[in-house]
Formats: sequence, C-alpha cells, structure tokens
Amino acid sequence: MSANRDRLFILDTTLRDGEQSPGASLDEREKLEVAQALASLRVDAVEAGFPIASPGDFAAVRRVAAAVRGPAIVALARALPKDIEAAAQALEKAERPRIHVFLATSAIHRRFKLKKAKDEILRIAARSVRLARKYADDVEFSPEDASRTEPDFLAAVVETVIRAGARTVNIPDTVGYATPDEFGRLFRMLGERVPSIGKAVLSAHCHNDLGLAVANSLAAVLGGARQVECTVNGIGERAGNASLEEIVMAVRTRPDHYGVRTAVDTRRIWKTSRLVSRLTGIPVQPNKAVVGDNAFAHEAGIHQDGILKERRTYEIMTPASVGWRGTSMVMGKHSGRHAFRERLRALGHRPGPQELERAFRRFKELADKKKCIFDDDLEAIIEDEISAIPEEFRLDYISISSGNRTLPTATIRLARGERLLQDAACGDGPVDAAMKTIKRITGVEGRLADYALRAVTGGTDALGEVTVKVTCGPHTETGRGASTDVIEASAKAYLNAINKIIWRRRQKKRTAAPRF
Ligand code: KIV
Ligand code: ZN
Repeated sequence: MSANRDRLFILDTTLRDGEQSPGASLDEREKLEVAQALASLRVDAVEAGFPIASPGDFAAVRRVAAAVRGPAIVALARALPKDIEAAAQALEKAERPRIHVFLATSAIHRRFKLKKAKDEILRIAARSVRLARKYADDVEFSPEDASRTEPDFLAAVVETVIRAGARTVNIPDTVGYATPDEFGRLFRMLGERVPSIGKAVLSAHCHNDLGLAVANSLAAVLGGARQVECTVNGIGERAGNASLEEIVMAVRTRPDHYGVRTAVDTRRIWKTSRLVSRLTGIPVQPNKAVVGDNAFAHEAGIHQDGILKERRTYEIMTPASVGWRGTSMVMGKHSGRHAFRERLRALGHRPGPQELERAFRRFKELADKKKCIFDDDLEAIIEDEISAIPEEFRLDYISISSGNRTLPTATIRLARGERLLQDAACGDGPVDAAMKTIKRITGVEGRLADYALRAVTGGTDALGEVTVKVTCGPHTETGRGASTDVIEASAKAYLNAINKIIWRRRQKKRTAAPRF
C-alpha cells in the first residue's frame, strides 16, 4: 500500500473493534462470511481479530487469512513479543499479511496503565515494530489514546516507529474525546513536524463517544490522513467506531470538498450492512445515515412532489449507489423454481441443489401465508436454510395454547435424525413455554441472554425474524429464525442457538488450543 495523494484507503475493523460491541460475538464461520463480504465490497484491509486474545480469535484470523483474497488481512497485537508472534502465526497463510501493533502513549495511560516513562515507550515501540517487520513487510503502529497524547511526544513516537519500519501509522481517538478541528490540526501538525512522514500512510481511527467519529475521521482526511479505520454500521466498543458507509459516501458525494476517492464498490454497502446486522444481532436504526430503512424514504408531500419532478431536489445520492432495494420485486405463490433461483442469483446467492430445494419449499410455504414475498423475505429464508452448522435438532411441529386466561403451554416435536421427540411445558408466556419445552427435549440448559424481534418486511403478514443470544456454560451463541408466526420464529431461533452450542462443544473436544 503506497501513499497516493487522492487515494483514501479503507481499513475495516468490524471483525476486531466492531466485534468488541457488547454482545456482538461472531463465530468463525460468521467472521469468514463477513470478511468475504468485505472483500467483495473492496475495502483495502480487513482487521480480522486480535489473535492472542483467545483461541477462537486466533482460529478466526487464521481462517480468514487462508481464505480471503484481495484486501490485506490485519491482525492486532500489543507491543509484546508473544502477541506479535501469535499475530504472525495466525497470518501465515495470508496473501497480504499486516501486523498491527499498538501501545498507549498518553500521559494518563503511561502513568496509570503502563507505569512507564516516555523514553521506555519509545524503546518498546521501536523494538516491537522491528520484531513485527521480521514477520511481515506490512506493519502498522497505533499510539493508543493518541488524541490525548502531548503533541511533541506523539510526533516523536510517530518518527520513531516509521524509522523502525512501520508503513502505516494510525492515530486513534481511543475514547472519542477529540473535536473535528483539533483532530484535523493534529494530522496537519504530524505532516509538518515528523521528518519521515513521507515514508508512511497516516491513518485515523475514531470512536463515537460524543457522536463525532465520522466528523473526526473526515477532518483527519482533510488534515492529510490517507487511511481511515471504520466499521460497518458503526458498531464497536461503547458508542461504536466511525461508520464505514458514512465515510465512504461522504467522500464520494463531496469530491469537491474532500478530494479523495476510495476503491469501495458502494453498491454493496446495503447488503453488507444487513449481513453484519443479521449476524451480530445489532439492528440498524431506521434513521441511520446511508443504510437506515428511512435513509431514502420520502414522506412529506412537498418532498414527494420534488422527487417526482427531479430526484436531485431532495436526494444527494441515489438509493442505487448504495444498493438500497427500495422498490423490491414482487414474488408470490405463482412464482416457479426458475424465477426463484434467478431472483436468488440477482441477490448474490448461489445455493447448491439441495439448499435450493429446501429454500424453495420454505418460499412456497411462506407464499401460502403471505401475498408478496420481498427480497428481504428471501434473504431471511436463505440465511435460515444455508447454514453450515449441522442441525442436530430440527423443528418438526409446534403448537401453542395461549390467552389472557390460559396458562401458556407449548407442545413441540423435534426431529433428531430419523427420530421424533415430543414434549410439552408451561411458561410465563408462549415464547417462554416454547423455550422450556425445547430445553426438556434437547437436555441443553441454555439461558436466554437477549431476544430481538424484527419484521423483515412491512404489513401484518410480514415475516418476523427473531434473533436470540443463548448462554450455556462458557458458550454464548446467536440464533436466528424466521417465520410469519413469531412464536415459531422464536422457537427456531432458540433451537438454532442450541444446535450451535452442541456443535461448538463437539468442536472444542476435537480442536486443541493453539500454543503461543
Ligand atoms: O481505539 C483504539 O485505540 C484501538 C487501537 C487498538 C487501534 O482500537
Ligand atoms: Zn478502537
């Protein structure tokens, strides 16, 4: 990656900083799916994880590194030999490996967290970058809490790490404290005061504690940054990170102002946003810029009139430019297998014959209950059907009795291979009754840690998609299920999480943890 005046590099950290969002943990297969979507989106670098953090993180980085081609694959490491070695090991099979070393530099971190003086910080930073360079040509360094670091010392750190071999120097606003004018000035200062600055790409990494992450990132671009670090939907630690889609669309919509371009295929933004939302279980707020459901919806009469006369009156970017599928095609019970397969292809899915058959059956069942099947309905079906996690238990039958004067009771039959297992239980509500019954049949004592229901499309006959987080011992798994019946969707989601827990227990027995 070389510095190019009008090229803005995008480092996506959805799988690392984004995954640090409370409750957003993704399994290895889901991380690979996101990484592949990011490669198709054409980001320049995918930060896949923090390998020393856990065996799961290590395995996920290794898997992404082996499978994903195109972007640089980045692994995070503290400025410690064992971290850097773990990152290098996880990146062994990467086409373009990058080791990202970080070390805090601000007075408050030096004094209370690290208990180290400035000269020691400089020595450790240089030594770590040199060690990382033994394993990878592409090394990035981040002075953590840079925005609260004394400017003179920050400039000295940046010069030191560039001399030691860092190709990218990332300036994090770790706690979201900076303001746009200050942050832009910080980049200009580094451009002027760091003698070796021409040998590295300056990068910005902003957190959203005061809602300024995107504004600060864009101010950094105006100040000379040529890489921004961001996440899909802006997910991340605490209030999140700078949102990828907002930064990319800001520089695309205002080239006159920012004077930079990215390589991102913006038409894939919407799909990637929905994938990340579905897999993490974190919904996208309707009024979210660029990817919210209402981002291109015009309600006011005056606006509608303007749009009909000339779209540009009220639209600064076209829905198509971000892949928004506002005007969905209509599919219904008369649609055949061919049309179904073609529609799935248009949405970017190429299921195998068996998956197609299962998905088609689900589509027909849904079409009997619901007049119009929208693209989002199809996505939910396909997500439900094309799962690499083996289904130990499958929902065969569910019957609920509920009402304001009845004790909610669920009767459920599950298929386990050829065997059918049936039981019934009462609960505090129909969902609780269904989950208790599933517990009795499967013998898995899962605790429901989170539950979210969303209507995939509008109308009273909408497909409901339920996302749950279920904890069982050390495992927390996300489960999803979709149906026009929300209780059935809940049971499916819960069962999906239970199947993942069973699968993960088996995997754990098989896989020995890597040695660092
Ligand atoms: O916010 C931060 O400082 C980070 C660094 C590890 C880059 O995420
Ligand atoms: Zn961060």
